[in-house]
Amino acid sequence: MGDPRLLAVSEPVRRFNTPDLAALLTDMQDTMQHLSGAGLAAPQIGVNLRVVIFGVAQNPRYPEAEMVPFTVLINPVLTPIGSELEEGWEGCLSVPSMRGLVPRYRELQYTGVDDTGQRIDRRVSGFHARVVQHETDHLDGILYPRRIRDLTQFGFNEALFPGEDLQDD
Ligand code: NI
Repeated sequence: MGDPRLLAVSEPVRRFNTPDLAALLTDMQDTMQHLSGAGLAAPQIGVNLRVVIFGVAQNPRYPEAEMVPFTVLINPVLTPIGSELEEGWEGCLSVPSMRGLVPRYRELQYTGVDDTGQRIDRRVSGFHARVVQHETDHLDGILYPRRIRDLTQFGFNEALFPGEDLQDD
């Protein structure tokens, strides 16, 4: 947080199946895996292109956590379904060791393409919808703290959730 590349509006990807795009995605996947994140956007590794990846595997430590299939989403377009917002805790690899309570649309449709240029069109809700909104915000230069409505609900993991071993995501 504070790096100007995280505040820029990123450019759409126009060419697919290129070595550059493949290298970017490998780099993003390595970074996300290394930091145990739920998602990552290209600007977070200094590349201002409209590329996000996300996914949450079933974790035995958090059996109640919703699973999200691993997804490469390029040039995403989000369309909220209804106007219902839901508050939920978020973290971000670009804002390490912190959490904030962020309002997001509960349900939405998202479209875009995968790394081969194949169209993606999904209707999702809950945590899946939250992750997509968080990652897509990065492409418009928005970090989650700007979405927090009550800044008393923003702080360090160890203070907000003592004793819990929370990952940055
Ligand atoms: Ni983030």
